[in-house]
Amino acid sequence: MGRIPQHFIDELIARADIVEVIGSRVQLKKAGREWKACCPFHNEKTPSFWVSPDKQFYHCFGCGKHGTVLGFLMDHDHLAFPEAVEELAARLGLEVPREGGGEAVAPRAEEPLYELMARVARYYAECLGREPRARDYLARRGLTAATLERFEIGYAVNSWNDVLKRFGGDDLARRRLAETGLVIERERSQTQFSERHYDRFRDRIMFPIRDTRGRVIAFGGRVIDAGEPKYLNSPETVLFHKGRELYGLYETRRARSNLKRLVIVEGYMDAVRLHQEGIDYAVATLGTATTAEHFRRIFRLVSEVVFAFDGDRAGRAAAWRALQQALPEAREGRQIRFLFLPDGHDPDTLIAAEGREAFEARLAGALPLSEYLVRELSEQSDLAHADGRARFAESARPLYQKLPAGVYRELLLGRLAQVVGLGPERLEELWSKAPGAPAPAPAPAPPPTARAGARARLSGGRGSLVRQAIVRLVHFPAIAAEVSPAERSGLDASEEAGIALLRELLDNLREQPAQISAQVIQRWAGRDGGESLQKLLEREEVITDAAAAAGELRAALVKLADLAAERRLQALEAKSRTGPLTSDELKEFQRLMSIMSARPARHG
Ligand code: CTP
Ligand code: MN
Repeated sequence: MGRIPQHFIDELIARADIVEVIGSRVQLKKAGREWKACCPFHNEKTPSFWVSPDKQFYHCFGCGKHGTVLGFLMDHDHLAFPEAVEELAARLGLEVPREGGGEAVAPRAEEPLYELMARVARYYAECLGREPRARDYLARRGLTAATLERFEIGYAVNSWNDVLKRFGGDDLARRRLAETGLVIERERSQTQFSERHYDRFRDRIMFPIRDTRGRVIAFGGRVIDAGEPKYLNSPETVLFHKGRELYGLYETRRARSNLKRLVIVEGYMDAVRLHQEGIDYAVATLGTATTAEHFRRIFRLVSEVVFAFDGDRAGRAAAWRALQQALPEAREGRQIRFLFLPDGHDPDTLIAAEGREAFEARLAGALPLSEYLVRELSEQSDLAHADGRARFAESARPLYQKLPAGVYRELLLGRLAQVVGLGPERLEELWSKAPGAPAPAPAPAPPPTARAGARARLSGGRGSLVRQAIVRLVHFPAIAAEVSPAERSGLDASEEAGIALLRELLDNLREQPAQISAQVIQRWAGRDGGESLQKLLEREEVITDAAAAAGELRAALVKLADLAAERRLQALEAKSRTGPLTSDELKEFQRLMSIMSARPARHG
């Protein structure tokens, strides 16, 4: 059976009354605005179990259990998630709709969506043939006709309703287009428009994203030449889960029957260009960090990966994030290496400049994970002195502890011990009884390569800006709609703690608006960040006014964007003192300067 659509779960949460549902199973007593009872999940004589009708969730301060009405039904009645949904729906007299599901069995209901995507991809490819501007652009970027065909690269015409008119003949067709993210549905309040839907992709080069079976599940669209945003991707849909897919994996598997290694790059163009030049085992993450899910997929296919990151600051920060995700996967028989490209290059420009052989030589010389780790941590500490080595050991500890037990872990311990100047047994012994050791390992250091800003961030307490923004969003999820695209994209360059969750939350709520907090909590149940959202929602009681919250949210976003820009400016300034900036850097510098000088005042 197919998945239960998100909108239905949202609707259940919005319609159900948690007090009524819990009240029919537990004796609740009114206490102010809330209700309380003796906790049904642990044994107690005085009530510490609270149910909040405003927030639509429950919390036991005795045993810590908490959640939405669905979570309560699962825990209390011992139901699986779909059963809890059925139970609640039945109570409200609703029928549970289903859509297509996981990849194991091809669900009947989803088949038409794949077909629709395939037809649209073919149509975009046809349009490319008719648009000289787009064709010329791709030719200037060095792509051959064979490559365009292999990746079925296309073009979306400059129109608000071309795809809508062509593929959205009736209500059902329009609904399916909206489900794939190809068209966007307007708010009901926007009555000045006669059409309820409009095309997401306009005047863009289109890269179809395929699943491993070759079915088109999403698109990435690039502006021709300059414009913002440079890339626009399909949203998360029933077909497409960004953190799971690797662009070019299907094409890679088709090109190579005996695949031994993969090269992981950041961009669509990088993957396409590498394939064209004969490195036909390149795949791209889709503008996200490499996730644990990516690693599972990768190591099911090959035992060797090389990450190729841009030599710029963002590339180095991304490499450090990838290293952290890779640690739990590092075990004997697997090779994980990092290639850093010369400053100013990405794989696309580098292979164009140097050719395949030179690029392959670079791949062959890529840094093994262990060496990369040691190098980065050594740069943070002065290893000539004992306290520097102690610092090194301290920052290596949480990273080392992410490794699974085994030969690889032993080898790395040996290497780290060598740097610290202790025997491996001694180092491990120290680590195991270091203060706070029984608690989970502290978060690893921020990317040590982002030198300019990293220290300031740690001392400035600015994580609270992210926190302020998230708190407002969980209390009033509807205010996400008031954030402008520019305010949202200003966060892209930010590296504040927790920023990934904030970005994810904003994107999710802008794609699929939610009205009440419990819907958000339910969406994040069991996901990274879910617990934090719950805590923020419970602790912060001060926010009562949606309009004020929207203003504060936007102010926090602007400050975060400024901080990111300011840090980048500092980095560029520092660089310009040691040598000339590239023309791109110079442009970036000027752009940042004009943004910063347009701001009325500096934010602290
Ligand atoms: N990306 C994105 N949205 C953006 C910018 C980037 O999704 N606004 C993702 C895309 O998947 C892109 C990748 O991040 O391919 C790398 O971005 P970038 O290095 O800026 O682009 P390139 O791949 O180098 O693209 P091009 O060479 O066409 O400029
Ligand atoms: Mn590029």
